[in-house]
Amino acid sequence: MASGIRLSDRTVRFALKPLVFAASLGPFVWLVWAALTGNLSANPLSDLTNETGVWTLRFVCITLTITPLRRVTGWNAVIRFRRMMGLYAFFYGTLHFSTYIVLDRFAGLVDFPDGIVSWTTVRNLAASIAGDIYKRPFITVGFTALMLMVPLAVTSTSGMIRRLGGRRWNLLHRLIYLTAIGGVVHYWWLVKADIRRPQIYAAVVGILLTFRLVRRLQESRAAAARQGYPGRARQNAAAGNRADNAITSQEDGK
Ligand code: HEM
Repeated sequence: MASGIRLSDRTVRFALKPLVFAASLGPFVWLVWAALTGNLSANPLSDLTNETGVWTLRFVCITLTITPLRRVTGWNAVIRFRRMMGLYAFFYGTLHFSTYIVLDRFAGLVDFPDGIVSWTTVRNLAASIAGDIYKRPFITVGFTALMLMVPLAVTSTSGMIRRLGGRRWNLLHRLIYLTAIGGVVHYWWLVKADIRRPQIYAAVVGILLTFRLVRRLQESRAAAARQGYPGRARQNAAAGNRADNAITSQEDGK
């Protein structure tokens, strides 16, 4: 669509990538600093859970923005940030879940019959987490959204991309759409009064998913128009496969 942004491979690899990596770690560093120096609000425990939660959703949205950004600007190198952004979403999600386990569930355990460090404590903690996932729908949805990110993180290595093949890898990685929807539902559900912030995230996720839906419709309409030309359709399908593999291997900066 657009002419495309041109930056050398070295600039992306040695300047932009380290910069984006450091910037993405910023919220974590800030949270640790604020917690250690007493710079959180009057309810620091809730701050830690909420901040890690909202950063998880932000990184999911950033990950989903990469492909539309590439298509709109023509800047192909931006795809090389997609894996990093996805892994940051998983990192903040894991942090969010960990803070919930320690600050919400562990803090709520009332007695430790065999001492704090014991199998009984681990069993009681697991039962408390499982009970909460079962009982509170917003926790059920949040947990599902996070679990859907596990196969994506596991298959993010170049070896796994190669083993699965571009097409299957892309198909699996569509699970991120469900994580995004789950994240928004989770947020909307837990907010008691002012739903403006979850509404903004719902709109952002809605736009990003609609972009993909529209493209898919355009592609299938184009494929239908080519029906009368089977030779050409076969060529285009093969080209599509090659493009899928090329795009996924670019995640690696190849
Ligand atoms: C095991 C999975 C998860 C658990 C147990 C969990 C639990 C929680 C809890 C207890 C809160 C605070 C609720 C309150 O203040 O009343 C919260 C907030 C939040 N969580 Fe999660 N969550 C999970 C996964 C996720 C995921 C995957 C996302 C995003 C994709 C997410 C996004 C958020 C957001 C945006 C908030 C609200 C932040 C704010 O109010 O500023 N959570 N979560």
